Amino acid sequence: MGRSLLFQPLTVRGLDLPNRLIMPPMCQYSAAPVGPELGRPNTWHLVHYGSRAQSGVGTVVVEATGVVPEGRISVACLLLHDDAQIPYFKLLADVIHAGGARAFIQLNHAGRKGSSRRAWEEAEGPATPEIGGWEPVAPSAIPMSEDGLTPRELTDAEVDALADSFATAARRAISAGFDGVQIHGAHGYLIHQFLSPASNARADRWGGDFEGRTRFVHEVVRRTRAAIGEGPLLIRLSATDWVEADSLPGERSWTLADTCRLVPSLVADGVDMVDISTGGNMLADIPAGPGYQVAAASAVRETLRGSGLETPVSAVGLILSATQAEQILVSGDADAVEIGRPLLADPTLPRLWATQLRAEATPLPPQYLRGGVRQG
Ligand SMILES: Cc1cc2nc3c(=O)[nH]c(=O)nc-3n(C[C@H](O)[C@H](O)[C@H](O)COP(=O)(O)O)c2cc1C
Repeated sequence: MGRSLLFQPLTVRGLDLPNRLIMPPMCQYSAAPVGPELGRPNTWHLVHYGSRAQSGVGTVVVEATGVVPEGRISVACLLLHDDAQIPYFKLLADVIHAGGARAFIQLNHAGRKGSSRRAWEEAEGPATPEIGGWEPVAPSAIPMSEDGLTPRELTDAEVDALADSFATAARRAISAGFDGVQIHGAHGYLIHQFLSPASNARADRWGGDFEGRTRFVHEVVRRTRAAIGEGPLLIRLSATDWVEADSLPGERSWTLADTCRLVPSLVADGVDMVDISTGGNMLADIPAGPGYQVAAASAVRETLRGSGLETPVSAVGLILSATQAEQILVSGDADAVEIGRPLLADPTLPRLWATQLRAEATPLPPQYLRGGVRQG
């Protein structure tokens, strides 16, 4: 047996993840957009997540799931706004566990980026009310681009209530059997919209300086922590908007320096693992190449270690080979890595990577043991 770090377990708040390879959240745009089945996982989600859970990844993070109906990204996104949804999400948690992986779910409010159509639809523009669309809300009435929808500015009371909506949805996820939750603070969705001065021009307690703009994420994390007891709590952040110098506090955008300032205080609030992505809130020229977000994950990890915190950090973005993934861990840039698009294309990839690293992925489900499928 080799010494691969990638296939070593990782403990997060007392929960063992079988290895350090994670499937990141990826929207499937496959839930009902209207009617009694609104936002519920269905046969597509069960097959898709079930097969990826059997792939050998240690952990599956289910796609961005709205904490309220207007918090969905597209009309066909998942939705955990009501206790009546719990049994349907329980099927999803069960199928992931049966495949041998830990089950997490990403909780989201899309803010000004909500009410979109399914990603592959040819029709342009936001979803109309006839097909399930709604008026997006946001910290401020600032569209993301010139041709984007202008969102309605949330009231103080609405912002406060939305922090509770994250916590309540998290409680539902744990009741459904998920091992933990991930708060979506990245990619230009509501939490990121509060963080970045590009999208938050509020003059009240939820805006203004760094303290004001970070108040919402702190409230979401504290209330979610309280709602899920000892369940592991992850957060995904966009480390930078890719617009200003990342070594400086952002004046027009969110920068890596801002992220490094924020993260230790989120850990103090109860975050157990930080997932570092980038971008999504502003039009920017992103230098997307192999491992292009790893340096940001490494900087966040170094900040945490410098503050005496051992909180694990995961890296994501064009991590395309077993050796690249292993190298990220060996070099100490991150504690876990995620593979998204490669796993959409090929749900056998983690077992192949394990073979290449002379390691073992999660055990094959017993139903497949006689199949002679390649194993480390
Ligand atoms: C189809 C698709 C849907 C995605 N949906 C989400 C999502 O729901 N939440 C999220 O945080 N990121 C989402 N992402 C981003 C991925 O989680 C990941 O960060 C990104 O694809 C980069 O990793 P990769 O190069 O391994 O694919 C999505 C990406 C794809 C391709």
